[in-house]
Amino acid sequence: MADPDPQELTVPESSRFGEQALELFITGDEIQAKVTEMAALLSDRFRGRCPILIGVLNGAFMFMADLVRRLDIDFEVDFLKISSYGSETASTGTVRLLKDISADITGRDVVIVEDIVDTGLTVRFLRSRMEEATPTSVTFVTLLLKHEVANLDFPIDYVGFNVPNRFLVGYGLDVDQKLRGLRSLYVFKESRDV
Ligand code: IMP
Repeated sequence: MADPDPQELTVPESSRFGEQALELFITGDEIQAKVTEMAALLSDRFRGRCPILIGVLNGAFMFMADLVRRLDIDFEVDFLKISSYGSETASTGTVRLLKDISADITGRDVVIVEDIVDTGLTVRFLRSRMEEATPTSVTFVTLLLKHEVANLDFPIDYVGFNVPNRFLVGYGLDVDQKLRGLRSLYVFKESRDV
């Protein structure tokens, strides 16, 4: 069955954000094309090495699911959960680990899969946390990077899209835990921008 036109996707009427206009930012088709590209690069990089892909919950679940289905190498998956924004759309400045990985990553190639890198706080935390377990390598993959605000002293290895400092929803990204199911990425037209 053909995918619906992403232009026609709307916020569910029952959503309390329903009255706020969303503007299409990156279409579902553009996302899928980028994910295919990123999966090909990762497959080439890790061929014959069976990396562990670690998805950062909740936001990265959709990107992770699409990404792994396009890999043509052996891999394992695991997930961890990090506290993110509460009901506000600004970073709290602290990171809490709510669920740790179960795999032993010592001597393994680790690939951290993020939905979005905003201030960089989460990936900085994850990098030092992963390195404590002496993996062979740690690679960072993110679908989205807010390059104007990210404060990083190491590179993100694979970036899908550089995005401006606006609040994005859809394709796994939420506002107050909602709107994660939208196939495309949207920005709020007015008040939700940071
Ligand atoms: P950082 O630690 O500031 O880099 O923020 C990373 C986390 O904040 C992401 O994994 C998201 O959960 C959340 N986040 C940052 N920007 C956005 C956004 O525009 N929309 C939805 N969530 C966001």
